[in-house]
Amino acid sequence: MIMVHRIAVLTSGGDAPGMNACIRAVVRAGLKSGLEVFVIYEGYKGLVNDRIEQVDRNFVSDIINRGGTILNSSRLPEFKDIEVQKKAVANLEAHGIDGLIVIGGDGTYRGAADLSKLGINTVALPGTIDNDIASTEYTIGYDTCLNTICECVDKLRDTTASHQRCSFIEVMGNHCGDLGINSGIAEGVEMIITPDHPMADEEVFKKLSELKGGKKKHSLVIVSEKIYPDIFDFVKVVQEKTGVETRAEKLGHLQRGGSPSARDRILATEYGVEAIKALLDNETSVCIGIQNGKMVHIKIADALKMERDPHTNLLDIIKLVNR
Ligand code: F6P
Repeated sequence: MIMVHRIAVLTSGGDAPGMNACIRAVVRAGLKSGLEVFVIYEGYKGLVNDRIEQVDRNFVSDIINRGGTILNSSRLPEFKDIEVQKKAVANLEAHGIDGLIVIGGDGTYRGAADLSKLGINTVALPGTIDNDIASTEYTIGYDTCLNTICECVDKLRDTTASHQRCSFIEVMGNHCGDLGINSGIAEGVEMIITPDHPMADEEVFKKLSELKGGKKKHSLVIVSEKIYPDIFDFVKVVQEKTGVETRAEKLGHLQRGGSPSARDRILATEYGVEAIKALLDNETSVCIGIQNGKMVHIKIADALKMERDPHTNLLDIIKLVNR
């Protein structure tokens, strides 16, 4: 017997391209399965403040190609507080909502686990550019972000080469190096410096000084955010120590924007449909992920304890192919 009849969807944490495609899939697949579907604006903040509305299939027309999230997003650290969580539960109950789908990163997963403990049937979907959710190989938005970074680095390569300079390019990722490592491979850069692939300052100076003496007179360095307190200060030191004219670019929030790639749209659609299936199968407190290319359902509490793959295979590739 199916337990859920009225479901709601929200997006939380940093927005990611493909979130809209996922919302669309949830709404459409939910309605087609005979469920009543609601949306919650502004993530957990909107849930606590009762920003909840019932929608029909037209609500999600023409959003599959749009970046960001039409539901808006927020970060709500106060959601750790049980009293705040109880407000959220009361609002869901007042609307008769018995199933909740949340799209976001780790923080969103923790909120979902808390709501499950309070009796809400919850399914979490991975939506973040960082690809830092251990229970899945791919998060919604990661592919688009990676492509955006490559587009920017391609442009920076032109000017860096023309002026025979070195460019340090800081990419997002929170504490995860996936964006840095994979954009570094995709761009064949001279150095990749990420949390999983760190480099001592002295080593950076040495390598750059060596490169200066070679045939190629320009170089690109991809750096994950949070490695250097200030990338602009750091490149001044690099220039001083190596004599190589060096510039820094912080790609910043532009990495989160833009129309989702075909891959992200498809992935987001698959995740959305899978979440509906999970609720119809009376699964609760699960998150959906991809492992070995296949959709998997994992208890959120277990997913939060999982360790990320350190990608040693990629680090080996870098050693062989990049400088
Ligand atoms: O989690 C996505 C992300 O873009 C991280 O890469 C980054 O560290 C963080 O969000 C930035 O957060 P905010 O947009 O709140 O400054």
